[in-house]
Amino acid sequence: MAPIVAVTRSTLPGTGLERLGQVAELRRWPEDTPPSPDQLRGLLTGADALLCQNSDHVDAAVLEAGEQLRVLALPSAGYDGTDVATAQARGVVVTNTPGVLHETTADLAFALILMARRGLLTAADSLRTGGWTGSRLDAYLGLDVTGACLGLIGYGEIGQAVARRAAGFGMTVQHTLSRRPDDALSRAVSLDKLLSTSDVVSLHVPLTEQTRRLIGAAELASMKPTATLVNTARGGVLDESALLTALRAGRLHSVGLDVFDREPRNGVGDPLLQHERVVALPHIGSATEATRARMVDLAVDNIIAVLNDKPPLTPIP
Ligand code: DGY
Repeated sequence: MAPIVAVTRSTLPGTGLERLGQVAELRRWPEDTPPSPDQLRGLLTGADALLCQNSDHVDAAVLEAGEQLRVLALPSAGYDGTDVATAQARGVVVTNTPGVLHETTADLAFALILMARRGLLTAADSLRTGGWTGSRLDAYLGLDVTGACLGLIGYGEIGQAVARRAAGFGMTVQHTLSRRPDDALSRAVSLDKLLSTSDVVSLHVPLTEQTRRLIGAAELASMKPTATLVNTARGGVLDESALLTALRAGRLHSVGLDVFDREPRNGVGDPLLQHERVVALPHIGSATEATRARMVDLAVDNIIAVLNDKPPLTPIP
């Protein structure tokens, strides 16, 4: 009998699902909206594998329904929304997809740095709404990215990929919260030093108990008043209400956000997302056709390996 693989979305990018369908019975969630916890439990009952998203929040109560579950594959680098410890205690292999999305996510982080620092969203909106009425040397002025000092909080795959891009912009790069020492691209400094000396601070740490609300009121106050803050990591790393207070007090030049405390998030009437010095995107760091297909492929390869009693390619330790 073919193993059953529960899939929490009706469609996924690329051809990974087709491949999986050749070796397993796919039980796909049929709706456009993600399953609720109860629906997730139903989907999981009798399944040998689960292909889900980190945002599905597979917790202990959901996992209880997966009595036969052998592998839970996340097509993402992050796994903060999944109860990995409980899954592993139940003998379930949990996998993620490092190594395939860092360049694409670094592209987006750099795009946010440029958008925020140069005020590109405001300028584009002004053009679209008829606000470009004459050429003035003192209009649409941003701050330079070239030659600025970039502080990377977190220097893993994505942080290092951002540092490579920064080198092309002649930026001075420093990093912290990493076991990695100085290298050719970046030097290791304390968090205090990084915050007080960087023109651009970009977050690249996973969300853990140690990094939750890492950047709060005190950290924001220690940043340069002209600094740009970019978060493509996880919303929980940043205290959003402290950020809004800082912006309202005139601190920080600009902010670029791709991740939020609550997701999905409706920007209508949201004071942080509507703030004129904030550029906000709907968590699209890894969203290119090729990268999303690679993420699904790797998740599928992990499932197939475990179902064939082979070691997974990218297990979460
Ligand atoms: C990741 O890969 O962790 C992305 O942020 C999607 O969750």
